Amino acid sequence: MPVQGGAIEELRASVGLQFEDEELAHVLAEGLAHVEKLLHDTVRSDVQPVQEAATHLVDAGGKRFRPLFTLLAAQFGSAEVGNTGDVVAAAAAVELVHLATLYHDDVMDEATMRRGAQSANARWDNTIAILTGDFLFAHASRLVADLGTETARIIADTFGELVTGQMRETVGPGAGEDPVEHYLSVIGQKTGSLIATSGRFGGMLSGADEQHTAVLRRFGDLIGTAFQLSDDIIDIASPSAELGKVQGTDLREGVRTLPMLYALADPASSPRLIELLSAPVTEDALVAEALELLRDSDGLGRARVTLSDYARRARAELAALPATPARDACESVADYLVARTH
Ligand code: IPE
Ligand code: IPE
Ligand code: MG
Ligand code: MG
Repeated sequence: MPVQGGAIEELRASVGLQFEDEELAHVLAEGLAHVEKLLHDTVRSDVQPVQEAATHLVDAGGKRFRPLFTLLAAQFGSAEVGNTGDVVAAAAAVELVHLATLYHDDVMDEATMRRGAQSANARWDNTIAILTGDFLFAHASRLVADLGTETARIIADTFGELVTGQMRETVGPGAGEDPVEHYLSVIGQKTGSLIATSGRFGGMLSGADEQHTAVLRRFGDLIGTAFQLSDDIIDIASPSAELGKVQGTDLREGVRTLPMLYALADPASSPRLIELLSAPVTEDALVAEALELLRDSDGLGRARVTLSDYARRARAELAALPATPARDACESVADYLVARTH
């Protein structure tokens, strides 16, 4: 399949992949082109409203981080397998599961923007967004079913863990539960789980050594958790034009992310910030005020330290993998997640 001009540069820019090897760059860009085609073929429906709502966010883009990681993980298996059908199908499936959860998440978070476009719930309504998420998940299940029972069981377990994380986030920490520990375990479940499975699938389906597949899974879990943490930091620290989604959604929904939890626990935080964080913040002016105070708080700095720690642990896992350009690429993702919050 031809690789579009600029595809490799885009890949480097979107998730910070850095590696010297041109051959790897070509293999990944080619693999992603296959994934793209499969995504579009898979979500096709004869029923026009279904087709329109399902392709809405597929076409809006996104980083394609999960399928990319599957393709990268498949580089640790047999060279002949690389970009073949099973790996591409698994890569498309993890993106579809991710996409399904985004349709549902935007309903739950009452978000109006996603991937720089209108969210499905805003463009249509909650019912359409929920049903489209279900439709995408059904197609993801069909793709993995063709890869065998073990793969199907893994994606089912992963989805169960992911929604458990979403549920625990919604409900909040239980009585006596440490809020920071609760947050870190929730983001591991809601985001780390699927990225772990993305790496695991790449290893499994390319015939990688079992120990290497286990490393890719653990690396995915840590990097996925770091990814969510960096996303939560950027939501506070970056200008909203760069996000492709509405800034301060967590504040509006009353979801306390790590910078907020650290700020709440800091006796030196301004009483005004503590007051603003005590309940969902609904007015735009108050969201802007809370964001400003959070940017000046120690909470943001402390959250960056925790992020660096996750990235360091993720990098440490990689030592058990062979030193190849694919390993360098994995390492660069860990570095990038920290760098992108500055
Ligand atoms: C968004 O995921 C939800 C989080 C886990 C933070 P991504 O940041 O990977 O979203 P897209 O796929 O690029 O839109
Ligand atoms: C995204 O979570 C959905 C999942 C990880 C399942 P968030 O609500 O934290 O992410 P954004 O900010 O909407 O992308
Ligand atoms: Mg959300
Ligand atoms: Mg959410």
